[in-house]
Amino acid sequence: MNGLRYNPAGSVLDKIILPEWYRGLMIIVGGSSSRDLAKELAAILQCTYVQAATTRFPDGECYTRIDHMELDDDVVIVQNTYPDVNLIEMFLLQDAVKRLGARTVTLVIPYFGYARQDRVFKPGEPQSARVMAEHLDMVCDRVITVDIHKEEVLDYFTCPREDLKAAETIAEYFTERDIDLVLAPDLGAVNRAKAVADILKVDFDHLKKIRLSGSEVKMEPAAMDCEGKNVLIVDDMISTGGTIIAAAYALREAGASGVSVACTHGVFVGNAIERLTGSSLDTILCCNTLENEVSHISVAPIIADALKR
Ligand code: R5P
Repeated sequence: MNGLRYNPAGSVLDKIILPEWYRGLMIIVGGSSSRDLAKELAAILQCTYVQAATTRFPDGECYTRIDHMELDDDVVIVQNTYPDVNLIEMFLLQDAVKRLGARTVTLVIPYFGYARQDRVFKPGEPQSARVMAEHLDMVCDRVITVDIHKEEVLDYFTCPREDLKAAETIAEYFTERDIDLVLAPDLGAVNRAKAVADILKVDFDHLKKIRLSGSEVKMEPAAMDCEGKNVLIVDDMISTGGTIIAAAYALREAGASGVSVACTHGVFVGNAIERLTGSSLDTILCCNTLENEVSHISVAPIIADALKR
């Protein structure tokens, strides 16, 4: 099989003829949302990296092509389903790899879009997360997500599924950074804060979030004393940044000496990064489930571990 191999030493894609013994190992296909992560996975797993060549037609429709004659191995597609253009690209890649003879298709969806509309909140709404899962399930032998907003969404897949947790990876990043207290911005995120705090061997608590609008929230202080403490806020995602900016303000008011934030998914809509940078935060970091200028915490090792299992 002719193929592209990712060269971990030089980070260079070079065209090679893959030897016969290579057959049987998995092939990682990088969609356009997650190329760096897919390359990192291929490097860790020492397996073939194939780049999907995705472009747009003049009318904006997605065109993608995998420049191979066949992919008759276990194929892993790494691609987000957010924003919508990436979801469409994922559907097209699923069809393309199947037509190239993929024996099995594993979907690695680092950031699963629509997971927040996991149920019908008001009559007349769709159950968006279910719609996405059921469509993705059509060409899918296994699905892996990272800190999906609601794990129940994975139950709409009929294949083996697994949601990986980034808490340990986030905690490892902060081990040498003298964190005194880990806080969740609301009660729903407290288990993640606890997981990070346990590894850092520090206390944890949560704030009380009152949502005023789509982009505005009010925070009530943590029960725990923050005076003079170096606090790390941990959340699953930052979207508009409203939650974290309000949390940082409340913590500074409560006397925190340092406030950092780490999340799994840096969605950062609009000018969220600028707003966060201009707030009272010392550090803003996220995982590379969504690739951006502050996505310095890599989830590639935990995904690679899952793929090896
Ligand atoms: C909420 O349930 C999530 O965990 C995040 O806290 C929320 O989505 C963040 O949104 P934003 O950055 O727009 O405040």
